Amino acid sequence: MAGPVLVFDSGVGGLSVVSALRQRLPGAALAYVCDNAMLPYGMREDAWLAGRILEVCSAAVAASRCSALVVACNTASTLALAELREHLDIPVIGTVPAIKPAAGLSRTGHIGLLATSATVARPYTLKLIEAFASECRVTRVAADPLVQQAERWLAGEVPDIDVIRRSLAPLWEDPELDVVVLGCTHFPLLRDWLTPDAHREVAWVDSSDAIARRVAEVVSAIAAADGLGECFVTAPAPRLTAGFASFGFAPAQVLSLP
Ligand code: DGL
Repeated sequence: MAGPVLVFDSGVGGLSVVSALRQRLPGAALAYVCDNAMLPYGMREDAWLAGRILEVCSAAVAASRCSALVVACNTASTLALAELREHLDIPVIGTVPAIKPAAGLSRTGHIGLLATSATVARPYTLKLIEAFASECRVTRVAADPLVQQAERWLAGEVPDIDVIRRSLAPLWEDPELDVVVLGCTHFPLLRDWLTPDAHREVAWVDSSDAIARRVAEVVSAIAAADGLGECFVTAPAPRLTAGFASFGFAPAQVLSLP
């Protein structure tokens, strides 16, 4: 029987991918799971994190009876996609930084990658840069504090503009940089607050539309949406209930882990 598409992230960042999925597949049932007990992922040790991602995703796939899993987290995808695909018998669609479209878009040949500490340093990311942006200069900026700002935004608080400004500052050191890859799914949620320094036009690129396109191609049977989607968390999160509802999800249930 067809189930929903389950979207996974460490926190609320996967909701930026949910928006793209709802646009491309308006009638599809979606479920959401986040590992908010262990957020942020971007500062965690790789071996531990790989095991944790497998544990949370396996439990959520079973609880939601989903047709497909979208790993809406660059930090998780650049580490654990192969292992997830090996262990789960449903399609697993990952999220990796949009280096290729960014390189195609840049007129100056200087692009920025804004992501978590883990993602900017991962061999997977370095290979993407080598394969698709070898002609470009790529400035990699770790911007972990933005994750917390996006979490605050979903809880109804105003993000801290100074934190955002400081996190973006390394991008503006070279006047030529003209495209920024948002390589963490939390960052598009802050799009209204992401602004370049004065006298510069910048294009912001993320992977959410490409992921939604891929889901539409790969997943043949998705249940039709019928009211709010199920939402799973690993720690109670009552402050996020209204935010989750605004993306079409029911009050979160705490996922039981083995
Ligand atoms: N949203 C996640 C990503 O795309 C990571 C946030 C975190 O550090 O937990 O990388």
